[in-house]
Amino acid sequence: MKNISFISPFCDLLKSFTSTSILDRANKKGIVNYNYLDLFSFSDDHHNRIDDYPYGGGEGMILKAQPIFSAYESISKDNVKPRVIYPTPDGRELSMELSMDLSEENDIIFICGHYKGIDQRVRDEIVTDEISIGDYVLTGGELPACVIIDSIVRLIPGVINNIESAKTDSFYENLLDCAHYTRPDVFNDLKVPDILISGNHKEIEKWKLKDRIDKTKKRRIDLYKKYLKNNNQKVEEKWTKWWMQYLNI
Ligand code: 6GU
Repeated sequence: MKNISFISPFCDLLKSFTSTSILDRANKKGIVNYNYLDLFSFSDDHHNRIDDYPYGGGEGMILKAQPIFSAYESISKDNVKPRVIYPTPDGRELSMELSMDLSEENDIIFICGHYKGIDQRVRDEIVTDEISIGDYVLTGGELPACVIIDSIVRLIPGVINNIESAKTDSFYENLLDCAHYTRPDVFNDLKVPDILISGNHKEIEKWKLKDRIDKTKKRRIDLYKKYLKNNNQKVEEKWTKWWMQYLNI
């Protein structure tokens, strides 16, 4: 059982997200346990304050160190070194590789910041991973925490039925995902590509790979370059030959 804890002033948002769909199923199957720590209830302050003005001036409020340290200490165990994630736009960008790495951890704690940020001493002393979900700014760490947790939990064995499906996801092996269709084969005169209903598995696999390569080349040349560099050697002989022909190289 993996433990995922959230330290946040807005736990309702996290509860609602983790009790829906696949994240909920992971919990019901006994694979992950979610734990929510309401930051307000850890404040020593008379008025339950969790934020204060920044030293040195400037706009916005800063989350105080004390409630976060207290919440963290209430769940920290001597023999366990958890990964402590602080979602922040100045962190390292989330990637499939990082999600895969985190999916192997047994104890993960999220610290969700708000306002202008959190006291630097929390980042220096407790946080192990500062993660951004992209180059734009959100008002708090809850949504990024949901994004990060979703990308991690789906990779834990047993959570999604078909782990093979995750292997063809966009970004696995630096290729975007191919197009997908389901029944009927003709809808409003729009036909599914013939090859997909041909029953010829080898041809279908080729079609899928070609679709992935085409899309990646068109939309994400940066990924496509990585794909060529990293994956060329790994792929079986027959595929390599086919690609070379396809790519005219
Ligand atoms: Cl992780 N936090 C916030 N507040 N904004 C973000 C972000 C994180 N990643 C992108 N924008």
